Amino acid sequence: MLKIENLSASYQTIDGPVHVVKHLNFDIRDNEIFGIAGESGCGKTTLLRVLYDIIQYPLSIDEGRVVLSGVKKGVPYELTTGEIRKAWWNNISYVPQAAQSVLNPIMRLKDQFLDSIPKQDRGDESKEQTLDRVRSYLKELGLSPDVLNAYPFQLSGGMRQRAIIALATFMSPGLILADEPTTALDVVVQRGILMMLTRLQKQYKNTLVIVSHDMGVHYQICDRVGIMYSGSLVELGPTADLFREPLHPYSRMLIGALPVVGDKSAKEGIPGRPPSLKDPPPGCRFAPRCPRASERCRREVPEFRQVRPGRFAACHLLEEEAQSHA
Ligand SMILES: Nc1ncnc2c1ncn2[C@@H]1O[C@H](COP(=O)(O)OP(=O)(O)O)[C@@H](O)[C@H]1O
Ligand SMILES: [Mg+2]
Repeated sequence: MLKIENLSASYQTIDGPVHVVKHLNFDIRDNEIFGIAGESGCGKTTLLRVLYDIIQYPLSIDEGRVVLSGVKKGVPYELTTGEIRKAWWNNISYVPQAAQSVLNPIMRLKDQFLDSIPKQDRGDESKEQTLDRVRSYLKELGLSPDVLNAYPFQLSGGMRQRAIIALATFMSPGLILADEPTTALDVVVQRGILMMLTRLQKQYKNTLVIVSHDMGVHYQICDRVGIMYSGSLVELGPTADLFREPLHPYSRMLIGALPVVGDKSAKEGIPGRPPSLKDPPPGCRFAPRCPRASERCRREVPEFRQVRPGRFAACHLLEEEAQSHA
């Protein structure tokens, strides 16, 4: 469905390029909910923008590409970086971070829906007929069709976010990218949005990519999770396995920092700060914060590779452990 091939991207700044996405290689499968986790500033939003093909100054691709493929209405398609934008709304859609601002404040929701549906998809349908399709879609998602008559400011934050998700998914794209879809919403509303997303994915059998700094979100809804650190993936695997036994020292810290019901011991959080992307440390970028880092870790970049069936990680220690068991 989505192949990320040796992808690197950077921002041009007055001090030179900042490499924000580094040598990413992984696949997102059909019909899965894939999570992208990691601390703020590690490059999650930038990665989604590259996946969605919004590559404009100061962002550029240094290397690699993204391949989006699938079948829609019986017709197979395959699009690579530079062509993916042709498939916006139809095959791929994007709910940006702080999505509230994608709605036009002076337009009623129904006009924003009508604007987002391409002419060829409406055929010779009248406006009312199209709106009827929108209404039944909203009902399926558990939303009242009344939102169509509202202006964005008349809706609560949670309702606005639901309306945006409905707008992004109305054309049933095979792939939906959602950037921090529940951040800034209170816990009860968060749960509602997550339920809406999982129901939608089950019903329409599309692929959902959820970016969140909140590991709890990934634990609740993702089939697989990729953990990002300083522009690269450090670990990727099935959610249940990764939470039960995180392999990379950074994943261990992230998961160890999660509150556990009934556990009264103080959670430590992660000591240290993420490295500067402008001037990253040589070798493994996590080495300066890693309790187990060796000389080699500070010198040599570890390769992101399959360490067990279905489980990928970039860590010299894992490689050395595997060798000592062999
Ligand atoms: N327009 C930009 N110009 C230069 N640097 C940027 C720009 N946008 C983001 N960055 C930098 O890229 C890094 C990754 O940012 P981002 O992708 O937003 O991370 P995340 O979504 O994980 O918080 C940050 O260090 C940020 O400062
Ligand atoms: Mg972000």
